[in-house]
Amino acid sequence: MVAEPKYSFWREAFKVPWTMYGIDIKYKLNSVIFYFSQQGSTKKIAEKIAEGLRHGGHTCDLVRFTKISKDLELIKYFEFKRYQLIGFGTPVYYFHPPYHLFEIFEALPDLSHAKGFLFCTSGGNPGATLFKIKQVLDKKGLKIIDGCDRWKGLDQHRCYSHFPQSALPSSVGHPTEDELKQAKEWGSALIAKALAPNTPEKTDFWSKDNKWAEGGWKGRSAPFMEKWFPDFYLNKDKCTQCGECAERCPVEAIVLNPYPTWVKDCDRCYLCDLYCPEQAIECDWSKQIAFMDAILERAKKKKRLK
Ligand SMILES: Cc1cc2nc3c(=O)[nH]c(=O)nc-3n(C[C@H](O)[C@H](O)[C@H](O)COP(=O)(O)O)c2cc1C
Ligand code: SF4
Ligand code: SF4
Repeated sequence: MVAEPKYSFWREAFKVPWTMYGIDIKYKLNSVIFYFSQQGSTKKIAEKIAEGLRHGGHTCDLVRFTKISKDLELIKYFEFKRYQLIGFGTPVYYFHPPYHLFEIFEALPDLSHAKGFLFCTSGGNPGATLFKIKQVLDKKGLKIIDGCDRWKGLDQHRCYSHFPQSALPSSVGHPTEDELKQAKEWGSALIAKALAPNTPEKTDFWSKDNKWAEGGWKGRSAPFMEKWFPDFYLNKDKCTQCGECAERCPVEAIVLNPYPTWVKDCDRCYLCDLYCPEQAIECDWSKQIAFMDAILERAKKKKRLK
């Protein structure tokens, strides 16, 4: 553990490098966290990591991705050079980052001046999420020094719509106070890693044998998901044309015309369906619910045998 340098007006004023235990510390670490969070769990974790990164007078800005066109515009003009440490956080969708984020990551500029870190929240199986992000960020020259995929968030995928709270039961209550505390501590610990000159790159993101993550959903066109998940069916008798579904959609796949129309391939998050106040989007989930129930049952039995 490296002790935090105490604040010194003169050191700050002249930006004098500071040496302790052989580690060269410039007083202030400027970091930024970009995160996507449709339902708020990743946001909670990102805020706690940022709190940790601000420990000792360092700075951490938070940037939330919301809509793809806005996000692409934002990163085009963003002053990445102001930051020595850049983090990315995401929910896990189908063992990967939500697919539209790849488009954003691919559009990032060269980041070889900085160090990076990654995190996600999931319902309990993050699959290859951080590994997949790192693959793209490697091309940008960002040296990833740490990552964490152990935090959970409330999982309200529509496969779990028949459970109380429309959620995977084991995900209810997450992220817990304990997880939020861990996230803050993890953020604080990143400071020393970011300031040390020889922090090694983290490469062991995904050694798990997870066939779903490997084969699950290949390519942007997502033919597997298109086939496997239900179509959007709008009940016009219920729809009030309020626009909530279009507002929620991060990839701008829904156009009000004047009723909502789905105009392109999307992340298949089904949060348009979840958040429609009139339950006017009627997807047939019976096949997927039966499939997930069978998986959950098998998992329960395995645990009982152990
Ligand atoms: C479309 C969709 C797909 C998901 N896929 C997975 C998954 O493959 N593995 C998993 O553990 N959790 C999965 N989840 C759960 C989310 O990763 C989890 O709820 C996350 O914390 C949501 O983050 P947010 O609240 O920041 O949006 C999925 C959730 C949705 C909506
Ligand atoms: S959120 Fe529901 S009611 Fe509102 S426009 Fe969309 S489908 Fe119609
Ligand atoms: S499922 Fe709905 S909200 Fe999600 S990306 Fe597709 S159209 Fe947008």
